[in-house]
Amino acid sequence: MNERAGERGADPGPPGGDAFLTVTDLHAGYGEARVLHGVNLTVGRGEICAILGPNGAGKTTLLRALSGMVRVRGAVRLDGADLTRRPPDAVARRGVAHVPEGRGTFMPLTVEENLRLGAFVRRGRGEVEADLERIHGYFPVLRERLRQPAGSLSGGEQQMLAIGRALMLRPRLLLLDEPSLGLAPIVTRELFRIVQTINEQERTTVVVVEQNAHLALDVAGRAHVLETGRIVLSGSAERIRADEQVAQSYLGYRV
Ligand SMILES: Nc1ncnc2c1ncn2[C@@H]1O[C@H](COP(=O)(O)OP(=O)(O)OP(=O)(O)O)[C@@H](O)[C@H]1O
Ligand SMILES: [Mg+2]
Repeated sequence: MNERAGERGADPGPPGGDAFLTVTDLHAGYGEARVLHGVNLTVGRGEICAILGPNGAGKTTLLRALSGMVRVRGAVRLDGADLTRRPPDAVARRGVAHVPEGRGTFMPLTVEENLRLGAFVRRGRGEVEADLERIHGYFPVLRERLRQPAGSLSGGEQQMLAIGRALMLRPRLLLLDEPSLGLAPIVTRELFRIVQTINEQERTTVVVVEQNAHLALDVAGRAHVLETGRIVLSGSAERIRADEQVAQSYLGYRV
């Protein structure tokens, strides 16, 4: 672990010590380019956890590493099970749903087709209809747009569709990469409110990468700050908000 992590505080772990996700000494990159240099973090069961950090820090790469999309060294454990070096479909079967940067919806397909695709690794087909209803409950606007191509939706609606599709997996862990990207503040706030409701009603653990640190720290119980491939600060949202360097770099004011 690097010095700043030591100075400013390594991950003290979730309250009660009930770590649902444990990442240990995780290294990842693309070919010769190394991006993550030994990431250590924990996420508590049922927690909303924010990952903050500047552009290029490796936030997207970290989520890709968690969902099996890039090669890694180190360990990723979910509820005690080793997910390290498993392919993405195996990770999805373990209950990890990833809403990627840029949303990953299939534009020519309809809203309904996109939602049904989200259930692809599920076995019990009978429950899919009930899940569609459940998702319309969270995102009523999607019900009105079922037959429309995803490409015809507004940016906010597309992000709702991407999250809805991820929920079709009945995830235990939901990974969200920059859900606010390109959205108006009011739409972003609404999205985060829905994510909070999902977290409360379904006890889904959420890891959200977010540029809007104010908003992320409002909904998250804890947060980790990633800089140049290393976690430099971990703690409760209050503690992160009170950190002078975080305030200057991400919140736009001095503590
Ligand atoms: N497919 C790729 N091939 C090669 N290098 C990549 C690839 N994707 C990302 N990188 C590099 O990895 C580093 C980390 O990128 P990453 O996308 O994880 O950062 P990030 O923290 O998500 O940034 P942002 O806030 O801009 O989304 C960057 O230097 C980037 O150029
Ligand atoms: Mg990114």
